[in-house]
Amino acid sequence: MEITILGAGYVGLVSAACLADLGHHVTCIDPNESRIAALLRGDIPIYEPGLAAIVARTASNGHLRFDTDPARALARAETAFICVGTPPRPEDGEADLGCVVTAARDIARYARDEIIVVMKSTVPVGTGDMIEGLIRRMRPQLEFGVVSNPEFLKEGAAIADFMEPDRIVIGAQTARAGNIVASIYAPLAQKGVRILRTRRRSAEAIKYAANAFLSVKLSFINEIADFCEAWDADIGDVATGIGLDRRIGTDFLQPGPGYGGSCFPKDLRALLHSARERAVGLRMVETASAVNEARKWAMGRRIRAAIRGDVSACRIAVMGLTFKAETDDMRESPALAIIKALRREGAQIRAHDPRGMEAARDLIEGVSFAEDPAACLRNADILVIATGWREYAALDPRAVAGLMRGRKVFDLRNILAPAAWRAAGFDLHRIGEAH
Ligand code: UGA
Repeated sequence: MEITILGAGYVGLVSAACLADLGHHVTCIDPNESRIAALLRGDIPIYEPGLAAIVARTASNGHLRFDTDPARALARAETAFICVGTPPRPEDGEADLGCVVTAARDIARYARDEIIVVMKSTVPVGTGDMIEGLIRRMRPQLEFGVVSNPEFLKEGAAIADFMEPDRIVIGAQTARAGNIVASIYAPLAQKGVRILRTRRRSAEAIKYAANAFLSVKLSFINEIADFCEAWDADIGDVATGIGLDRRIGTDFLQPGPGYGGSCFPKDLRALLHSARERAVGLRMVETASAVNEARKWAMGRRIRAAIRGDVSACRIAVMGLTFKAETDDMRESPALAIIKALRREGAQIRAHDPRGMEAARDLIEGVSFAEDPAACLRNADILVIATGWREYAALDPRAVAGLMRGRKVFDLRNILAPAAWRAAGFDLHRIGEAH
């Protein structure tokens, strides 16, 4: 199938590369000329394990192309995937559909008859209807369909999530439009991937409901971690013990400093905005979001409380800045709030991250950045692990003891082996464990 992908951001690039790898002919377009020029040179603007190899393979076998010209790319497309950003509007959290509308206008201008528009961007329920109306007004004679096909990719695991998803959701208003999109995923369906067909609005709602449910799960386990801390139970055992009940499931029960990223915080705000518009109370979702926001700041207070003295005299090594490991994405990272809270107290902070430092330099003021973990740890009084990078889990506590001045460690991701660190003389604080 000839597919045009509008948007060479995270979702667009991953979808384009994977669809090309499934054997389709894909053109990925973006108005950002320098981004497309970089991609044509083989430079991938985001860090995603495995992505560069698939882009290189599919670009060299002719299945994947990049372009800036929507007219040229859409002239031959049978389907057009909208994969543009829908950031929250700062005033009210509503999803900003500016880029979606621009993409839809390009499709209306340049697409050939029988085009199927596939919405992959996360958009409020009812957006498919709006886009259909917009294209119809611009090109009343055009034969087309608009289908919702939300993505469920996790940064850092996006290729596996695309190629081996738990399900593919296709929300269409006509059987024909839905069948065409289903045929794109036929190679995955043949391997046993479940394709769920729904109405368009239901598919749009599935995306928000999934992210909201996962956020509720995280805020829930984080509160249970606080409870375990207060009553001297072990959150690791409690999470395993409840997770083994298949109705609960073991995934997504790792407590931490609060969730971040480009999706959960933004999608919850947008969902709550849509709920308010129809006077629906979504108190669970509202609470999950509030619990998470409060938690990020509480982490800073927890460290301050444990120091029991003058934080301003402390040198703190903060290791891990991205919102989770295996990404260079700093958006809504809990580390940002933790660092701000500690800086307010006057602490001197040296930070390190294997992938996120470039972005972090623009976001965080008054912090020095270390080129490697050893430089970050040298002469520090306190170590805070804010992101669960594998290389931090592999740190040798005896070597760290030789570098640091103090012995306090706050492992906010529970990745350090407690026995080894305590044996090396560290006062180790973990999430969900009494101290
Ligand atoms: C999330 C969803 O997991 C994807 O299914 C969805 O497609 C995506 O949003 C999206 O809407 O585009 P992502 O934001 O990449 O994916 O990251 P997650 O792996 O879900 O992690 C989100 C946050 O939760 C991170 O800060 C992570 O550290 C935290 N987390 C996750 C935990 O604290 N504990 C866990 O057990 C899992």
